[in-house]
Amino acid sequence: PKVIFHRDGGATDVVDVDAGSNVMRAAVQNGVDGIVGECGGQAMCATCHVYVREPHLDALPAISEDEEEMLECTAAPRDERRSRLGCQLTLGAGGLEEVEVDVPATQI
Ligand code: FES
Repeated sequence: PKVIFHRDGGATDVVDVDAGSNVMRAAVQNGVDGIVGECGGQAMCATCHVYVREPHLDALPAISEDEEEMLECTAAPRDERRSRLGCQLTLGAGGLEEVEVDVPATQI
């Protein structure tokens, strides 16, 4: 699977990840700036907030109750349609094969 990160400021990172990983881990393991992942992927910190780009929105998993709660606590404004927690977006292994996201200007 592959994640394309569009960072605040215009740079783009294309990252190949192992199946079963997620968008937050893909960023942290590959040194993509702007995604923190403080809670380690427990949907408890909101520092892995991303804005998913349009063509991928229909393929996303449903938002759990925990994720919904944390999306109310993001540092950058929540976008009703595009905001998700990166740690809740699983790649491969039945999840997304490719996803393209915008990284918010701030996570804290
Ligand atoms: Fe903490 Fe995603 S890493 S909510």
